[in-house]
Amino acid sequence: MLDNAIKYSKPHQQIDVLLYKNCNQDIVIEIKDHGIGIPENEICHMFDRFYRAKNALSIGGNGLGLTIVKEIIEKHGGKIEVVSTINSGSTFRMILPQNS
Ligand SMILES: Nc1ncnc2c1ncn2[C@@H]1O[C@H](COP(=O)(O)OP(=O)(O)OP(=O)(O)O)[C@@H](O)[C@H]1O
Ligand SMILES: [Mg+2]
Repeated sequence: MLDNAIKYSKPHQQIDVLLYKNCNQDIVIEIKDHGIGIPENEICHMFDRFYRAKNALSIGGNGLGLTIVKEIIEKHGGKIEVVSTINSGSTFRMILPQNS
């Protein structure tokens, strides 16, 4: 997810990494970038194997990273969420139960 944040941002753009516990005491890892963002109608496909959004096609990649991340997180009983705005940036949030 950090690789994505760097890859889909311009050089020297800020990336924020947050680690905290939410009110349920789940462990939350958030990676926020200010890069190309994801088109709204493609967000639902982001975790599909080999899916790459139209605005990312000129940048290299296989469309596998997020599928693997989601599978690992879910095997630990957690979940992954994304909030993104095209040309503005993306936030990926992994939520892991403390006892996973
Ligand atoms: N931080 C991000 N900003 C914008 N688009 C993103 C971001 N992260 C993922 N995406 C979009 O989601 C798609 C899937 O991401 P994923 O990491 O699975 O594959 P990839 O980066 O294309 O290739 P790789 O398998 O090498 O990671 C990307 O092709 C891109 O369209
Ligand atoms: Mg990737």
